[in-house]
Amino acid sequence: MAQPSLNVVPTTAALGAEISGVGLADLDDATFAQIHTAWLEHQVLFFRDQDLTPDQHKAFGRRFGELQVHPFLQSRKDEGHPEIIVLESDADRPTLAAGWHTDVTFLPNPPMASILRAVEAPAVGGDTMWSSMYAAYEALSSTMQRLLSDLVAIHDTAKTFSRDAYPADKHPEPGQMPSTEHPLVRTHPETGRKSLFVNRAFTSRIVGMRRRESETLLNFLYDLVGTPEFTCRFRWEKNSIAIWDNRCTQHRAVADNAKAHRRMERVTIEGDRPV
Ligand SMILES: [Fe+2]
Repeated sequence: MAQPSLNVVPTTAALGAEISGVGLADLDDATFAQIHTAWLEHQVLFFRDQDLTPDQHKAFGRRFGELQVHPFLQSRKDEGHPEIIVLESDADRPTLAAGWHTDVTFLPNPPMASILRAVEAPAVGGDTMWSSMYAAYEALSSTMQRLLSDLVAIHDTAKTFSRDAYPADKHPEPGQMPSTEHPLVRTHPETGRKSLFVNRAFTSRIVGMRRRESETLLNFLYDLVGTPEFTCRFRWEKNSIAIWDNRCTQHRAVADNAKAHRRMERVTIEGDRPV
């Protein structure tokens, strides 16, 4: 019997789609296959009313691949969930991740995907935005695409995670912070499409360029990320879920109504080395 097709409503022309009529706690293989296909096309998918337990959240993540344990953000480790990262803000705690970034690019194998669930969402404000790095790359001239194609950049934690962010037992020595190199343009291992792969949070400099050359070119590329035509924006409700392809997108929180309580939980899926 043919499977009923999913109800997929695109968010913008660049990326994003909202899917309704499925429960992520209880997915059959055929429905998951349709979700996966829609995810590769739309880059970020949104679901409402998914009241998942931590174990169900992790089990949904494992449909995509092995879960990644963050090197130093392990908010629920003591509850048996080292894979779950809590992002919580209110009047006393600032909104984190309010600048454009791709998750964990300071590791040689950055995540394939992140799955974020709203446990508490403000009535208004605290949206998340995503930007398509396929769209950013495809908007460049072929001359600029050729220039970028041979370039590699260093990614590290220096700008975003201070030494104080590390648990005491993982405190790195200065010079021992995580650091790696990635191409400025990567080819998606599943879609074959090329995307821009630098982000202001973790990219520090382009290898083989003078500092001023590197900063000028990187700032030009970072400024593309917020181009409205490349982006979409999602308004959270309690139990909303977003899953994004971390290989071809960037995202940021919007820190308006920042004093309201907002609690998000994330699981992250292991990814390939970018090429
Ligand atoms: Fe993030």
